[in-house]
Amino acid sequence: MKKNELHIAYQSFEKVEELQPNDLVLVNHAIAAAAVAYAPYSGFHVGASLRLKNGEIVKGSNQENSAYPSGLCAERVALFYAGSQFPNTEIEAMAVTARTPGKKLKMIVKPCGACRQVMLETAQRQKTPFKIILVGEDGQGLLFDSIADLIPFSFEFE
Ligand code: THU
Repeated sequence: MKKNELHIAYQSFEKVEELQPNDLVLVNHAIAAAAVAYAPYSGFHVGASLRLKNGEIVKGSNQENSAYPSGLCAERVALFYAGSQFPNTEIEAMAVTARTPGKKLKMIVKPCGACRQVMLETAQRQKTPFKIILVGEDGQGLLFDSIADLIPFSFEFE
């Protein structure tokens, strides 16, 4: 039996001002998206934004439903919108943030497993990795150059 280790590469930042200007703009769109989330059941408002190669910004927020599994995460709302409206346009970067109105959210939101799977396939389809920026309420965050660092040992279908 051989012992192995995985290396995960990411950057961390204390303030959004440490990001490059176009990424800061993208983060502001994610914050705006979170503000219009429909999350009456969880009270957890998530916003995701995508910057496409043509400069277009696509936003998504979580959309809940009283039949709980019918709802969808912010990340997939944004990714599926981009996939349907701009099927041949590459995604360059994605930003995600969350808010819990009435209560400060201390943690940095991390995409759920299902969203990571969709992010992975999106990157595989476009044959180019895209940057992922996860931002907390105080502007602190994590930056990944590729979804591969967020979903090791991912499912593959041949
Ligand atoms: N949610 C997201 O929008 N993105 C995630 O990555 C995890 C969770 C949503 C789903 C649900 O509306 C609420 O957050 C609580 O789970």
